[in-house]
Amino acid sequence: MTVTIQKELLNGSKVTILPKKEQSLTLARRVAAEKKAEGCDEAFYVANLDNIIDRFNLWKKELPMFEPFYAVKCNPDPEIDLVTKMGVRPEKVIYAHPCKSTNFLLHAKKLEISLMTFDNAEELEKIAEHYEKAELIIRIGVADLTANCQLSVKFGCDPELEAPDLLRRAAELGLNVAGVSFHVGSGCNDPTAFRTALKHTKRLFGLGASLGFNMKMIDVGGGFPGSDHHLSFEKIAEVLRNGVEEYFGDSQVRLIAEPGRESLCCLSAATPSLHPFSALPT
Ligand SMILES: Cc1ncc(COP(=O)(O)O)c(C=O)c1O
Repeated sequence: MTVTIQKELLNGSKVTILPKKEQSLTLARRVAAEKKAEGCDEAFYVANLDNIIDRFNLWKKELPMFEPFYAVKCNPDPEIDLVTKMGVRPEKVIYAHPCKSTNFLLHAKKLEISLMTFDNAEELEKIAEHYEKAELIIRIGVADLTANCQLSVKFGCDPELEAPDLLRRAAELGLNVAGVSFHVGSGCNDPTAFRTALKHTKRLFGLGASLGFNMKMIDVGGGFPGSDHHLSFEKIAEVLRNGVEEYFGDSQVRLIAEPGRESLCCLSAATPSLHPFSALPT
């Protein structure tokens, strides 16, 4: 290994920059051999950071109107502390878990993180008691039933049967609902789910206005592929652009998304642990 530098980008982890392009498997074998010689058997990553930049540029080209909020959840560290310690401003953070413990809620309040989601009445009561100035995003459950990982089974209220009552309850409690969020499922295969969710969002914005809310934020969550093995990013982006034009073409809205896999799937070229890796045939 020729050049080793400390990079703040990777939270203080050591990164080795290679002098020239090399096949990931060849490289992984070489690193494994070096580590073995040093008597080290820890797992390691082989990653191509150029891929992240390429995916980000693709995002900017296809969905320039959507701010990407990286879904920190797909990394294992304590999330809010991790990002605030990296210098991310509180207004650039969304606390996207719709069921928060009171302690976590108070912690967010202390750090002045005010954007947060909810999908149930108990959460509203909790927020009204502990953080009534929070800016709330109602999470609705709209699923692509063919997606690889369903999230609406865990999170998101029914957009027709539950969301209207929740908005009314938020208004009674004097809370501030600023928008709608959803997540159609990770590894989306049917992008029409995004269109359906935007349709519900439009209706809920109307109801919100009649209750005195100024709802402007649309958080379309994740579901983006991050690799070429799925429905393409471009296809999802097209459906989103058309949906936004159809339902919100004449309104001022703030559009955001929470890409997780889209940002990171492309990163790991190989993630071997030394033992199974060294058993691979040459
Ligand atoms: C709230 C939330 N946002 C974003 C994501 C990231 O989703 P994806 O990896 O499909 O982009 C997840 C994944 O579980 C999530 O729960």
